[in-house]
Amino acid sequence: MSEALLEGGTRCLRNVLGRFATGVVAVAAADPADGTRAGLVANSFCSVSLEPALVSFCVAHTSGSWPLMRGAGLLAISILGAQQRAAADRLAASGTDKFHGLPWISSPGGAPVLEGSLAWLECTVEAEHPAGDHTIVVARVRALDAIADGEPLLFYRGTFGGFSR
Ligand SMILES: Cc1cc2nc3c(=O)[nH]c(=O)nc-3n(C[C@H](O)[C@H](O)[C@H](O)COP(=O)(O)O)c2cc1C
Repeated sequence: MSEALLEGGTRCLRNVLGRFATGVVAVAAADPADGTRAGLVANSFCSVSLEPALVSFCVAHTSGSWPLMRGAGLLAISILGAQQRAAADRLAASGTDKFHGLPWISSPGGAPVLEGSLAWLECTVEAEHPAGDHTIVVARVRALDAIADGEPLLFYRGTFGGFSR
């Protein structure tokens, strides 16, 4: 561990890791009993395995939405496009009715996919691994589709941005 990390703590970690540009996904689910939707935005999304098809993302222990989503059983992961900045802001805002006025379509199994997304994956939770103040969620892909060819929404050094070739 470098001196900088020891001195700077999480600020140093954010400063360094923020230089790794990522895409942005929305992870969302609907309660099978009453249809209540829950979701969050994540940039920790990652492809894990092709056979079987597995993806992963990390969820903070402080997430209020994750317990609702994991209880629902089926997750929709929407890969967000550049036009979905406002939707990302909405799903990142804790404690609000995140889906109010947010257009969504249903995945084959009934999980909410954000309208206008570039692609979606319908998943079940395969495993959860404790990792510090987060949980690494490994999810098995049950269905998926690419919807649009637009530009992706990116996250870099604490802000949203776009992709230019
Ligand atoms: C660009 C971006 C990326 C994020 N990535 C993650 C992530 O990978 N894991 C996570 O737990 N929260 C992440 N968050 C925070 C969540 O979207 C959300 O704000 C948090 O879960 C609090 O909402 P909740 O209490 O409804 O869960 C991210 C937020 C933003 C804006």
